Amino acid sequence: MAKLIGGLGTSHVPSIAAAIDKGLAETPAWKPFFDGYIPAKAWMKAARPDIAVVIFNDHGNSFFLDRVPTFAVGCAEEYRPVDEGWGPRAIPPFEGAADLSWHLVDTMVENRFDPTIIQEIEVDHGLQVPMELFFGRPKAWPVKVVPIFVNVIQYPIPLPSRCYELGRVLRKAIDSFPGDERVVVLGTGGLSHQLQGARAGFVNPEADRAFLKDIATDPDRLAALSREDYVATFGSEGAELMMWLVMRGAMDRDVVVRHTHYFVPASMTGAGMIVMENAADAARAAA
Ligand code: DHB
Ligand code: FE
Repeated sequence: MAKLIGGLGTSHVPSIAAAIDKGLAETPAWKPFFDGYIPAKAWMKAARPDIAVVIFNDHGNSFFLDRVPTFAVGCAEEYRPVDEGWGPRAIPPFEGAADLSWHLVDTMVENRFDPTIIQEIEVDHGLQVPMELFFGRPKAWPVKVVPIFVNVIQYPIPLPSRCYELGRVLRKAIDSFPGDERVVVLGTGGLSHQLQGARAGFVNPEADRAFLKDIATDPDRLAALSREDYVATFGSEGAELMMWLVMRGAMDRDVVVRHTHYFVPASMTGAGMIVMENAADAARAAA
């Protein structure tokens, strides 16, 4: 059976991609951010995953407000990076793990989640940026991907507790997938930010730090919060953070944190990262 080997969370801010494209990663403004990912990249290399399940939201690039699925699963053989208006990016297309995607869709339906099934779509910075942060800029990505799209844009958005339950179903799908693939799950988005309205520019570093701690040790608290709590605490776009609960729900109750990092760049978004393993696996590896 396939094996879940790690759960990772990261912000997916588009200016990160622009900073990489423009060669700014070593500049004083960006270096403290990118340095935080050095140990996470090393962890990923050592972990040798075959598949990355990436939970993210499209930002009006592939879905617009005229059609927004609450939960959708990519079941394609390939996903091209979408041009978000700055021209095509020099990153390779993402190969799909279509067989795991179909198995996930089937497992979801059996467990009373009814996702939209997508066989052709381009993916935006919500998927691109986390892949670049954890895998760098290879000629070809070393993993196949399963994209899970969550609507955190068009109200009504799903409940945080529902995202957490979806994670449990994702875990069932991984555990029951015939094969020996090593799977990592990437929760993306956040941390606190608001791009619009009277509170535009709002960040809440204290709440971000508490989130980074509790996603490992007290995810039930984060799953019990309301959607309004997320918007009030993390900002209207900071509500993206509930997507980390899909990743966390796929993991065991007890996890170990291998790496974590938090940074508020001179932009508008609290940027956070975490790398977790199931505690039982970590103990077995240490023995
Ligand atoms: C921005 C966009 C995002 O999708 C996000 O998660 C954070 C910031 C932005 O445009 O700045
Ligand atoms: Fe986003």
